[in-house]
Amino acid sequence: TLTMVGAAVAMTASTTVQARDYDTVRFGVDVPYEPMEYRDADGELTGFDIDLGNALCEEIGIECEWIVQGWDGIIPGLQSRKYDAIMSSMTINDDRREQVLFSDPYITPPSAWFVPSDSEIEDVSEEGLEDFTIGVQRGTLQDNYATDMYGDVADINRYDTAEDLVLDMESERADIAFLDFPVGKATLIDNDDYDYQVIGDMITEPKEYFGDGFGIAFRKRDEALAEQFNEALETLRENGTYDEIYDKYFSM
Ligand code: ARG
Repeated sequence: TLTMVGAAVAMTASTTVQARDYDTVRFGVDVPYEPMEYRDADGELTGFDIDLGNALCEEIGIECEWIVQGWDGIIPGLQSRKYDAIMSSMTINDDRREQVLFSDPYITPPSAWFVPSDSEIEDVSEEGLEDFTIGVQRGTLQDNYATDMYGDVADINRYDTAEDLVLDMESERADIAFLDFPVGKATLIDNDDYDYQVIGDMITEPKEYFGDGFGIAFRKRDEALAEQFNEALETLRENGTYDEIYDKYFSM
C-alpha cells in the first residue's frame, strides 16, 4: 500500500506541467469574435485576446500558438489536449469552474441587448420580448440566460458563431441580439451599413450567469502554468503593456 501511495504522488508530480516545461503554449480560440479575436484583411489572427495572449507568452518566455476551435467544443478540446489553454473571451463562472482552472480575470465587460434602431421592441422585460426572436451564440452564457429567462415567451435562435448571428440580424431573421457588449459594439453598432442600438442596461448580474470577467482556462492540474500567467498579467498591468493593448482595441 505504501508503495502504491508513493507511486500515485510521483505520478501527480510529473503530470503537473509547468510553463517552463513548455516550449509552446497552444491556445484554443473561437473566431470571429471581433474585437476580441478575428482575422485581419490578410487573414492573420488579431484582436485583444490574441495580442494580450502573445504578450503574456513573451513575458513568460514561451511561444504561443493559436488553434481555431468552434465555441461549442472548446472545453472538450482543452480536456482532450488539442491545446493547452483557452483564451477566447470565456467568462469565469461557477459552472465552468467545475470543469477548468481559470486565470485571474483579464477584462470584465458587461453583456448587452442590441436591436435595429427602428425596432418595435420597447424594453427587454419578459413581456417586452414576447414573440420576438432572440439571437445568441450557442453555448455562451448569453444563450444560458436567454434560454432560462425568455425561453417560454420568445424564440431563441442559437448560432455556431457570432458572425452567423450578425448575418441573421442584418437579414431580420433575428430581432434582438444578446452579446458581450464589446462584440455587439464592434459588429453591430460600428457596422456602417446598418443602424443598431443598445436597448436597456448593461448586464452584469446575476453572477451565476454573468460571472466574474473573462479568464484564460487551463486544465485543472495545470496550477503552476496558470500561476505563471497570473504573474505575467500583473507585470503587463504594471508596465503599461496591458493599457497599450486595451487602447488599441477599445479607445472610443
Ligand atoms: N463571454 C461569453 C461566454 O463566456 C461568450 C464568449 C464567446 N467567445 C467566443 N470567442 N466566441 O459565454
